[in-house]
Amino acid sequence: MATAAEVAQLEKRPAAPRQTTQFRLARPQVVGPDCPEPPFPILLAGPVQAGFGRGSKELGCPTANLPDESITAISSVAKTGIYYGYAQVLPPKTGTTELCEDDIRVHPMVMSLGYNPYYKNKTLAAEIHILHEFPSDFYGYDMKALVLGYIRPELDYTSREALIEDIEVDKRVALNSLDRPRYTKYREDPHFDLSCTIAN
Ligand SMILES: Cc1cc2nc3c(=O)[nH]c(=O)nc-3n(C[C@H](O)[C@H](O)[C@H](O)COP(=O)(O)O)c2cc1C
Repeated sequence: MATAAEVAQLEKRPAAPRQTTQFRLARPQVVGPDCPEPPFPILLAGPVQAGFGRGSKELGCPTANLPDESITAISSVAKTGIYYGYAQVLPPKTGTTELCEDDIRVHPMVMSLGYNPYYKNKTLAAEIHILHEFPSDFYGYDMKALVLGYIRPELDYTSREALIEDIEVDKRVALNSLDRPRYTKYREDPHFDLSCTIAN
């Protein structure tokens, strides 16, 4: 298996597989072993950066991007693909925020690590969609994440609707897969700032 970092070094990246009906119909509802196995858990942290903005506008799935230096922890040990785990957004220590106490809790997340073959991105990105309704953007805020498992490879699509449909399945698969005691316990992991409160 080539890691995402190794693939990034290649002069010509291999083309991503096309999504097929067969793949869609065969998707499992739970993925991974009953307990996370190496290289998981993988700890990620960094300030949230803006992507191209298509996640919220075109896919109904806003994503928070991590800066390049924060991606190394996963790209050096894992392949490109779609992952699941937990994430937390931390409010700035000073000033006001539109976020409330519930927004800054640890929530389930899905993450795309790769080149978004449908959109033909040129550079590697780690984009996290947190399964929680936020009242506003949180660009610049610190984000922490624990990646606990792999869902599927990133795929190319013939339609945006098919990509949206797969992302919806990813969210359900993530929730089902996290709903096991040895995964749920990571919500309380010391990597997260569990004493964090809103400073307003
Ligand atoms: C759970 C999840 C699964 C995704 N799967 C794919 C995929 O298989 N193929 C792909 O091209 N992009 C995939 N994406 C990436 C989206 O294309 C990307 O998040 C979207 O283009 C938004 O990026 P932007 O905010 O930089 O515009 C996925 C994103 C998420 C959150």
